[in-house]
Amino acid sequence: MVSEIRYNLHLGYLKNNFFMKIKSICCIGAGYVGGPTMAVIALKCPHINVIVVDNNSEKINAWNGSLEKLPVYEPGLKNIIKKVRGRNLFFSNDVDNSIKKSEIIFMAVNTPTKKQGSGAGMAADLTYVEACARKIAEVSTSDKIIVEKSTLPVRTAEKIKEILSENSSGLKFEIISNPEFLAEGTAIEDLFKSDRVLIGGDQTDSGKAAVDLIVDIYKNWIPENKILKTNVWSSELSKLASNAMLAQRISSINSLSALCEKTGADIDEVSLAVGMDSRIGKEFLKASVGFGGSCFKKDILNLVYLSKYYGLDDVARYWNQVIKINNFQKSRFSKKVIDELNGTIRNKKITILGWAFKKNTNDSRESAAIEIADTFLNEGANISVYDPMVREKTIKEDMKELWINSGDSHDQIVSKSKQINIYNNAELAVNGSYCVCIITEWDEFRDYDWENLIKMMKKPSIIMDGRNIINKTLISKYTKKFYSIGK
Ligand code: UDX
Ligand code: UDX
Repeated sequence: MVSEIRYNLHLGYLKNNFFMKIKSICCIGAGYVGGPTMAVIALKCPHINVIVVDNNSEKINAWNGSLEKLPVYEPGLKNIIKKVRGRNLFFSNDVDNSIKKSEIIFMAVNTPTKKQGSGAGMAADLTYVEACARKIAEVSTSDKIIVEKSTLPVRTAEKIKEILSENSSGLKFEIISNPEFLAEGTAIEDLFKSDRVLIGGDQTDSGKAAVDLIVDIYKNWIPENKILKTNVWSSELSKLASNAMLAQRISSINSLSALCEKTGADIDEVSLAVGMDSRIGKEFLKASVGFGGSCFKKDILNLVYLSKYYGLDDVARYWNQVIKINNFQKSRFSKKVIDELNGTIRNKKITILGWAFKKNTNDSRESAAIEIADTFLNEGANISVYDPMVREKTIKEDMKELWINSGDSHDQIVSKSKQINIYNNAELAVNGSYCVCIITEWDEFRDYDWENLIKMMKKPSIIMDGRNIINKTLISKYTKKFYSIGK
């Protein structure tokens, strides 16, 4: 009873004192999620100061530097940064003070799949999230609302709460789950016109009060009927479920693309016909060389891990199949190239056009290009790569990470590194190549002078369109070896 009274007094303090006056927000993590999300919050909430911190000081310097070289490329982002940077959006290396002076702390740090220990290869690695929680507990001198932006395994909020309460001296923290649904390449558009904003909190009075304060932020530009208030678990699981279902649609259409190639059906026609059923809808039915991105695979693995943990093996197998089909699609693609080159690609130049996991982003995490390139390298081919946005350094790091993770020896890594050349224009990358693989659907690839490019290639001049963006009738005039997905 006594503790209840104390708690209610405390609650009153929360509600009446600072929770009602949000003056400053701090976001930990200046990546693809943190950067654009905070830029939009700063733009739409000029009355709130937004400070973005990151333990990578190079990244913070880049956010504070030239608008042409921001660490994240997103259409529309540069103009927003130009308007709000230095007004009410700040990028800072001073993590401690930024946390200290803010009433709300967003956590937008990365949560990769665990590489070691229990759940390796499946569960999310919460090292960074835990480190953030410890940091918040260590430096805070007042109560705070912590908002999870990172995609997290269900029940992570509970873990964060535990760390905070064990490590802070009597301060009160409310943990809110507010998963991010932005897709890279359209992040700003998605943030402006979200289909829905999910805000999950504890079903206590103070939990509800904290949820309302986050609602107040979004209400500045999102209609209230699109803001869903849920409990924390529903919010966390909804994010995993949304990504898993989107990925499932792609794997479904990709599995059918293999059948189309055998039967003579055309996957684009099938996709159009299926998608016109309003119960199904047309989005995420575009056959491709396989989905990538930092979220889909990781979130499905998370779901698989969670299902296994609760003894739901059939559920785990069901979702795991979405990933298996994605792997099948990528290996089908590289096998086709090798088959077309008579089973041997040793010392042959093969071009990869597009390294990003989709167009309009400089992000290449989990891009199909990485595994496809590695398959070619393992067969002894020489790879040339061109992407309009992904930097050479990133491409090299992507490959190195894969090699290290697959246990390649030092000698193998040295030898494979020598087999890759990265160019800053498509003509150089294509010149003298036996086969051009389109991996990303960049608009410029569609508009190339293919007649000229094909003339620069070695015979049999194979074009593999992993995104179905090239006009078949047009290109068939210049080469007989044109292949797309599901046709
Ligand atoms: C997001 C989500 O937050 C993640 O959960 C989701 O699964 C992938 O997308 P994202 O913004 O894309 O992450 O990741 P990234 O671009 O890598 O940015 C994370 C940033 O957090 C990095 O800049 C990293 O330096 C920073 N970080 C990480 C910290 O500042 N502190 C840490 O302790 C860990
Ligand atoms: C996804 C979710 O869409 C977003 O809501 C969530 O917050 C983060 O994860 P993202 O990974 O940035 O966003 O991009 P998305 O547009 O979903 O594309 C993912 C992958 O699927 C890309 O490789 C894309 O090329 C591929 N894709 C998408 C297809 O192959 N076919 C399609 O029809 C759609």
